[in-house]
Amino acid sequence: MTADLNATTSIPDRTGIDDTFLAGFDRPLSREGTGALKWDGRGGVFATNDVLPVWVADMDFAVPEAVSAALMARAAHPIYGYSLMPEAVYETLIGWLWDRHQWRVERDWILPAPGVVPSLHAAVLAYTQAGEGVIAQPPVYFPFFSAITGNARRLVENPLLEEGGRYRIDFEHLERCAADARLLLLCSPHNPVGRVWTEDELREVLRIARKHGLVVLSDEIHHDLVYPGVRHRPLATLAEEGDRIITAVAPSKTFNIPGLGLSALVVRDAGLREPLRQAYAHLHFGGANPFSTTAFAAAYQHGAAWLDSLMVYLAETRDEVVRTFAREAPSIRVVDAEGTYLLWLDCREWCRVRHLDDEALKRFFVREARVGMSPGILFGRGGAGYMRLNIGAPRTVIREVVRRMVIALAG
Ligand SMILES: Cc1ncc(COP(=O)(O)O)c(C=O)c1O
Repeated sequence: MTADLNATTSIPDRTGIDDTFLAGFDRPLSREGTGALKWDGRGGVFATNDVLPVWVADMDFAVPEAVSAALMARAAHPIYGYSLMPEAVYETLIGWLWDRHQWRVERDWILPAPGVVPSLHAAVLAYTQAGEGVIAQPPVYFPFFSAITGNARRLVENPLLEEGGRYRIDFEHLERCAADARLLLLCSPHNPVGRVWTEDELREVLRIARKHGLVVLSDEIHHDLVYPGVRHRPLATLAEEGDRIITAVAPSKTFNIPGLGLSALVVRDAGLREPLRQAYAHLHFGGANPFSTTAFAAAYQHGAAWLDSLMVYLAETRDEVVRTFAREAPSIRVVDAEGTYLLWLDCREWCRVRHLDDEALKRFFVREARVGMSPGILFGRGGAGYMRLNIGAPRTVIREVVRRMVIALAG
């Protein structure tokens, strides 16, 4: 099955969806004063606090109740010392990957790590030498670039191709890049363009990687956040014997717990795992945080129904945003997301008409609409003239964001 469906016109199936969860997503919950980067950090990013923040990738939704209950139970024991990695972390991840992604993973394949970004750095250090090429496919989550250049590796870019608002991988160019690189950082699903790569696309990535002896790190942190009717395929489930695949997974985006910082790399091949273990030891990744492990296990164990409802809720929000722009501000084209709660807005026409560069585009939305989004240019080549809108918030908030933008664009 392909991931290609006309998402804007699909009506999410609400069968089996719990209305209590949907009502919960509608409930505004103030995060101001909690030290939330998205809210309390907006003054530093937008030079004003008078914006609705829809930038950094976390959601303004309460986590599943089972997660907060487990954290409170753990907090009730008043010693928070050095901790072991509980077996529950391995067991619940194995269970989740099987139930949700039909991927059978063994305990030995799992390397827990604080965050996915630290693991990107570890992988770059483990599999490449200074000066060697590492491929990234912009526009892409920008820490991919610093993981490469910040470790004195050479950034080899394979820009995504865009046609009529749909992105695809330039396989011909990837093949040429692969001849000049050791490692590919794949973003799957792809932040910020919202693609969920199809099985055919992933098989082609594997074919090229195999031919050129590339290691592929597949960052699948958004793998659970796919819209109804779309299927994410873990790259590793399509691999053949000898393929060198590392997969980054985490409950952090899925269940809105990224501030707790716990993820895992899954590496089947023991030989491939060893350099990573060494990099982890070198970077001192060892410790387990008693709160992050508690939330990790509780989310994977109890969060499935919450997540099903979340994706229905987000799909309805996405569809409404797409429709509203198409009807009321057609100079902005919303790229249809198959996954992630991040919408990629093509503002190039607006920039052209108004003679705006990227700085002026960001300023326009901050000053005229009082909306704080991530400028597309941050995501590298192909990001100029785009903005990234995070719809992970109650629909009333997103409606207000869109209303403000529509008025500003009409002015
Ligand atoms: C593709 C991708 N990888 C990694 C991260 C961040 O991972 P972590 O917070 O675990 O370092 C994000 C956050 O937006 C992301 O989009």
